[in-house]
Amino acid sequence: MKILGIETSCDETAVTLIEAHGGFDNSFRFDILGNALMSQAAMHAEYGGVFPNLAKREHARNLVPLFREVLRQSDMLSAAILPDNGPLFQVELQETLAREPELLEAVTALILEQGKPHIDAIAVTVGPGLEPALWVGINFARALSCIWDIPIVAVNHMEGHIILPLMENGAQKAVESPMLSLLISGGHTELVLSREFGSYDVVGETRDDAAGEAFDKTARLLDLPYPGGPEISRLAAEAREKGLVPKFKLPRPMMNEANYDFSFSGLKTAVRTLVHEHKPLSNKKKLEIALEFEDAVADVLITKTLRAIDEYSVQTVVVGGGVSANTHIRSELARRLEAAGNPATLLFPEAGLETDNAIMIALAGYFHAQSGEFSAPAALVATGNLRLK
Ligand code: KG4
Ligand code: ZN
Repeated sequence: MKILGIETSCDETAVTLIEAHGGFDNSFRFDILGNALMSQAAMHAEYGGVFPNLAKREHARNLVPLFREVLRQSDMLSAAILPDNGPLFQVELQETLAREPELLEAVTALILEQGKPHIDAIAVTVGPGLEPALWVGINFARALSCIWDIPIVAVNHMEGHIILPLMENGAQKAVESPMLSLLISGGHTELVLSREFGSYDVVGETRDDAAGEAFDKTARLLDLPYPGGPEISRLAAEAREKGLVPKFKLPRPMMNEANYDFSFSGLKTAVRTLVHEHKPLSNKKKLEIALEFEDAVADVLITKTLRAIDEYSVQTVVVGGGVSANTHIRSELARRLEAAGNPATLLFPEAGLETDNAIMIALAGYFHAQSGEFSAPAALVATGNLRLK
């Protein structure tokens, strides 16, 4: 089955075409036929975070060029054969893209040049994320579905972050249940228990800021560019290398509470106080703050994850979302799991696929398409706070 993935939930516009076969067992295989992504991070950097209307405009601008690029990589560029229901379908297209005039123009130009590509299903992110941004992807999926009569699968972005680490080199890693996913991204921090493949029970989540958001906000306090995660991580690594030992401590919010929830906003406030106390910040102080901040986040995330692993007799631990790129969190989790004598298998995304992409959306969509879970295009709704279930 050839499945197109479309991702526009935040500040990455991404389109991917994969060819997949088999079920979720040893028979599953996939190839990436085409993959294109445009990050708006540099544009949002000015605002110190993602600015929804800018994201929406950029998605509308980028989707058709990215889609064409995916078709080119997949060898699917072909001459157009205009459908016989031409006029009717122009009206439908205009209605579908009424709120995206720029995208309508690009799609109209596309169908004059491009014949129906061999795509069996379209997987599109419907949430969680920024609603104006999600709508652009949904409306683009609807337009393609309307032109070429291709069914649509609605995908939860977080399920994509869970499924991606289960894959390696186009095949599936060995996964034993129960599985626990630590999802750490710019918008979310969740612990999700899967008693079997495809079932999700959110056992804990953040009550305020997400882990990635805490990295981004702390970076801003330290005058570092957005996205802050990689910047803080770089400084913290330098501090470790230099053997710096900060004389101050940052709090570990909710670490010892008997639940699996998180809270990171207090940590950011504590960093703000520190920054004020030590103004103007010396380079050494900056390194120390980055180090102590990263240690504090890692400590809270890992302590609670280990406790959930014990309580639910977890066999497989998945770490997904942009913050899973953090090498310190990865190595500390591995070290403490081993120190606890726990044999659970630890899975991370393949390098470069930690942050948002459309491969994870196409993969999640494939498993739903396999069980015939398609959505009527008109029934699709962008849901900013969509939950896993
Ligand atoms: O999953 P993602 O691409 O987008 C959302 O769905 O939110 O995650 C983006 C987040 C940003 O907050 C970014 O600062 C963080 O992931 N991030 C990192 C690292 N790389 C990206 N955080 C800590 N360490 C990193 N190496
Ligand atoms: Zn994400």
